[in-house]
Amino acid sequence: MSGFNTKAVHAGGGADPQTGAHATPIYQTSTFTYFDAEQGRALFAGEREGFIYTRIGNPTTRALENKVAALEGAEDAVAFSSGMAAISALLVTVLKAGDEVAFLDPIYGGTDGFFFEILTKFGVTIHRCHDLQDLTQVLSEKVKVVFFEPITNPTLKVWDFSEVVKQAKSVGALVVVDNTFPTPYLFRPLEHGADVVVHSATKYLSGHGDLIAGLVAGKADLVQMVRFEGLRHLGGALGPFEAFLLLRGIKTLHVRMEAHSRNALQVARHLQGHPAVKAVHYPGLESHPSHKEAQQYLKASGGVLAIELDGGFPTCARFLDSLKLFTQAVSLGDVESLACHPASTTHSPMPEEARQAAGVTDGLVRLSIGIEDPEDLIADLEQALAACAMVHEMV
Ligand SMILES: Cc1ncc(COP(=O)(O)O)c(C=O)c1O
Repeated sequence: MSGFNTKAVHAGGGADPQTGAHATPIYQTSTFTYFDAEQGRALFAGEREGFIYTRIGNPTTRALENKVAALEGAEDAVAFSSGMAAISALLVTVLKAGDEVAFLDPIYGGTDGFFFEILTKFGVTIHRCHDLQDLTQVLSEKVKVVFFEPITNPTLKVWDFSEVVKQAKSVGALVVVDNTFPTPYLFRPLEHGADVVVHSATKYLSGHGDLIAGLVAGKADLVQMVRFEGLRHLGGALGPFEAFLLLRGIKTLHVRMEAHSRNALQVARHLQGHPAVKAVHYPGLESHPSHKEAQQYLKASGGVLAIELDGGFPTCARFLDSLKLFTQAVSLGDVESLACHPASTTHSPMPEEARQAAGVTDGLVRLSIGIEDPEDLIADLEQALAACAMVHEMV
């Protein structure tokens, strides 16, 4: 199995060894029977392979982990009950008091909150870096993790990936990449020198907005450590039903990512230069500051774009409240189009000053472009922008 699309469909699957079931069965069980006490002892001692308890592993979840590992080009992967459970379990596993983390801003607001509100309580120092110059300044042997999103949420900046990896490796830091936005279809960080990939599988991997899940993928020994420390002790295990839904969703990842990217580019091109839109952030646009990096690293530019409107929150609220086809909701990566105001929702955990500096302004609206007909999406955006313009004229 070498092609990505073939792996998306087949990896982790295959007929169930017990029954021949073609679709991976949902092993909806909390615990697994040992057939004698010796088997139990050997499983706990790690002398035998097998399942013990669903918090640590489950056959449906295992099939998902194998699929995602195959797609990311990782030796192994471990699934969690959310993206935040995956990120927190990984970092709690690899860090200790006195260590430092450097991250490239912006990142998802929940991750930002976890860094500053939780990790700092345990003696970890966090460095917020706005660019690669900032990163160079803070790097030292104490920095154990460099964390970033290859396409930033919600500003859609694409980092010079190889340069970040080079800098992080110069001090021996672990390069942790949140690959939620690109997914392995558009970009595979491990092939470009990253050590670990994390996912909010809630988004594109699922694709259907019907579950919450996360994953960590990387070298087998590190993933094993995350499973036995971060998963077993913190307990954020994924349920087998969600794993089943994800296995099903990922089978169409390649088809969906092409459709999301195609639609997003068409919408971005339409909105660019629109009199009611101050700026369009989408790396697929030739005018975007990260277009060169997007061309260099990404198969396509993905399904998320952001627009800036004059008038801050009141204008954005009017625009969002006027949308009819787009759903006003946080999250992204669903087949349905979604819209949100990051400053007051997803990125509200960030301090105001940091938020402004990272470009998460009060006038920014994030659009997660679904796979509907692009003409219908554009018509909806047009009528919502017209509603904002009417209010401006009345004021
Ligand atoms: C880039 C990114 N990483 C991580 C997360 C957290 O994932 P979850 O909501 O599955 O915990 C999100 C959520 O929006 C996200 O956008």
